[in-house]
Amino acid sequence: MTAKTDAVLNAPFGSVFAPVMAITRWSGDRFDDPSVEPLRPLELHPGAHVLHYASSIFEGLKAHRGPEGQTRLFRLDRHVDRMRRSAELLCLPPPPAELLTAMIAETAAANRNEVPDPPGSLYLRPAMIGTQADVGAAAKPPDEGLLYVVACPVGDYFTGGIRPLRVLVEDEAMRSTPGFGAAKTGANYAAALRTVVEARTAHGADQVLFAPAGDVQETGASNFLLIDDERVVTKPVDGTFLPGVTREAVLILADHLGYTVEERDVSIADVLDWARHGEAALSGTAAVLAGVGTLVYRGVEHRVGSGEVGPNTLRLRKALTDLQIGAAPDTFGWITEV
Ligand SMILES: Cc1ncc(COP(=O)(O)O)c(C=O)c1O
Repeated sequence: MTAKTDAVLNAPFGSVFAPVMAITRWSGDRFDDPSVEPLRPLELHPGAHVLHYASSIFEGLKAHRGPEGQTRLFRLDRHVDRMRRSAELLCLPPPPAELLTAMIAETAAANRNEVPDPPGSLYLRPAMIGTQADVGAAAKPPDEGLLYVVACPVGDYFTGGIRPLRVLVEDEAMRSTPGFGAAKTGANYAAALRTVVEARTAHGADQVLFAPAGDVQETGASNFLLIDDERVVTKPVDGTFLPGVTREAVLILADHLGYTVEERDVSIADVLDWARHGEAALSGTAAVLAGVGTLVYRGVEHRVGSGEVGPNTLRLRKALTDLQIGAAPDTFGWITEV
């Protein structure tokens, strides 16, 4: 491992930026030709729509370094599709798929020397904002804005490497609203933040599992799966939570490895019952597949399985990461090399 990689893997996730970004302006539903430029601050009017009415969407995907040094983007098409869907949900013009795909690929290619060796990766962060100066436009989408892609060399999202997580189960607060939960937008993270901060300070929790009225949805930054020797169980995509690209990939891999995949509604009682024998995990681009060791619900701690990261979680995580880094064949056509 190079000294540079080591420094990146130890820095907080997303705090180190690669030197090159792609950026373009949009107006109405017209997008200018993008440019690839040195990373730079944006100049915004203090009355910009995004600063007041949260006209902002984003994506998060990773490029991994392959065995021959290639730069391998994971499921680029699915992230592009989801960003276009997020745009629709925020009444922003969906960026043309070809344009967005090219901007992400060009940012990854321009920063290819910044991709750390596995288990590190280059995290790509496409974002779209409304820049129109109009503080009266609370009930109107912006007419113009920016679309850009920045990149961060990253290591683990959860500090401490692969370790069992402590997750607070929250049955009152909601992270989003029905329908809007499917958008990857800053507003949803702002809505969840207070609950997540309180969970950390009051319960030492790594994350919060949002389960309004007992309906287990997702955590603050990842999807939630129940796993055992035979099955993988998770809530079906229904607009209340973010349809994770990792979630979808893990379900496909699990099916391929012979697990029965059940997409069904899950209650808190189901989760606590499952915890007596099975495993639970968080899935996400940043989280990868992270095992849950303890659930805290209404002040009571519930050990999940052995309390350690379970063997099936580790098996599925390895199947996923091997495919991402090129240690296993790209059976499903999920990798774009740039
Ligand atoms: C709220 C939320 N749910 C789920 C996910 C998982 O999505 P993905 O697997 O596409 O990264 C994320 C992002 O990583 C997220 O922020």
